[in-house]
Amino acid sequence: MNSLSLRLVHGFFFAVIVSSSAAIRESSPRLPPAESLPARAEFPDPLVMLNGEKVTSAKQWNEVRRPELKAMFAHYMYGEIPPKPAKLDFKTTVADEKFLGGKATLKFVTISISGSEVPKIDLLVVTPNAVKSAPAFLALNFCGNHAIHADAARGTQAADWPIEEIISRGYALASFANADVDSDRAAVSDGVYAWLAKERTGAAANSATSDRGCIAGWAWGFQRCVDYLVTDPAIDKSRIAAVGHSRNGKTALLAAAYDERIALAIPHQAGCGGTAPNRVKADLASSAANGRPTVETVAVINKSFPHWFNAEFKRFIEQPEKLPFDQHELAALMAPRPVLFSNATGDKWANPGGQFDMLKAAEPVYKLLGAGGCDATEMPPEGKLVNSTLGYYIRAGNHSMTSGDWMVFLDFADRNLKAVR
Ligand code: GCU
Repeated sequence: MNSLSLRLVHGFFFAVIVSSSAAIRESSPRLPPAESLPARAEFPDPLVMLNGEKVTSAKQWNEVRRPELKAMFAHYMYGEIPPKPAKLDFKTTVADEKFLGGKATLKFVTISISGSEVPKIDLLVVTPNAVKSAPAFLALNFCGNHAIHADAARGTQAADWPIEEIISRGYALASFANADVDSDRAAVSDGVYAWLAKERTGAAANSATSDRGCIAGWAWGFQRCVDYLVTDPAIDKSRIAAVGHSRNGKTALLAAAYDERIALAIPHQAGCGGTAPNRVKADLASSAANGRPTVETVAVINKSFPHWFNAEFKRFIEQPEKLPFDQHELAALMAPRPVLFSNATGDKWANPGGQFDMLKAAEPVYKLLGAGGCDATEMPPEGKLVNSTLGYYIRAGNHSMTSGDWMVFLDFADRNLKAVR
């Protein structure tokens, strides 16, 4: 028999339906409206529930607090990640077993929804021939799969995607373009949200809906690629890492936080709306000479990219300190799984210092779960990887994802992904 526990949360009810096995089957939070949330300058304690109750066990974290945080990120910021379609089709269109001089196998897999024209994801999959079942990086790209290898039609970004090195170190690489899932335009939603609107209302979606958020949409794309990867015998399904740069990094973290099939996350230079705090320090948030703040804020990102987040997030533009969470709690949703925040000193916009603070603030959850933490007490010098479960890295240079960054991702994965069983 199910029992129903009701808690009073700032005058609202949070209903949790608990099954006989005491596992949460379903949680249906009725969360307080933004206006009634208390403003708090400090980062919220990840181990304190919305109703003030302290989380003291791994069980309580997994069964109560984690679902509560997931519900809050979806409600106040990203929107829900769209649901998994009833049936997906995987079609392998090209296979070259002698790729990279015979070291790898190259496949192009089209992932589509049975009965729907959109979205269709073209997934590039390169697996090492020397490894029976390889750990894999699943990376979201900006320019299309053809851009990431010189053998492909254009290869404009090939230098930044060291596929040979990834393969020679025993990893597979899978990659897809964010435009396959959502074209990143404020007014039109022609991919996953068009499918969703048709599912729900029978109508084609050609305008933004209030609960639409591109980041949640792209995260859905990651999850559908994982649906394929776990069926591919050349991939070790217990060792899939999500990687993305910038807006794709925000997406990689969100996708992994919500999908425990993803064993590790590398949100690279993800910044505001991903790995950097919403509560930006006053000196960084105040305008610089050019009229822009030094680091991106909730106000700025919602103005420039309103379609990345849901309508509710706009209520926090004036007062991000009313958010009942901060981004360390998105990182904490990864626990006990490893996560690396990587940065560049010249990419101040992504707030590298604030990101370090987020990692440290996620640590209590990792400690509660006995999963280690972040081995540094302060930001490391340029070029030194903090290679612990909560990893941090900062290099010289600017906003980009380079082949040198991939060497760091490989070192982090060697320690943290190869060890996953
Ligand atoms: C802009 C935006 C960032 C984002 C970046 C990107 O700079 O302000 O939040 O990460 O674009 O995706 O390249």
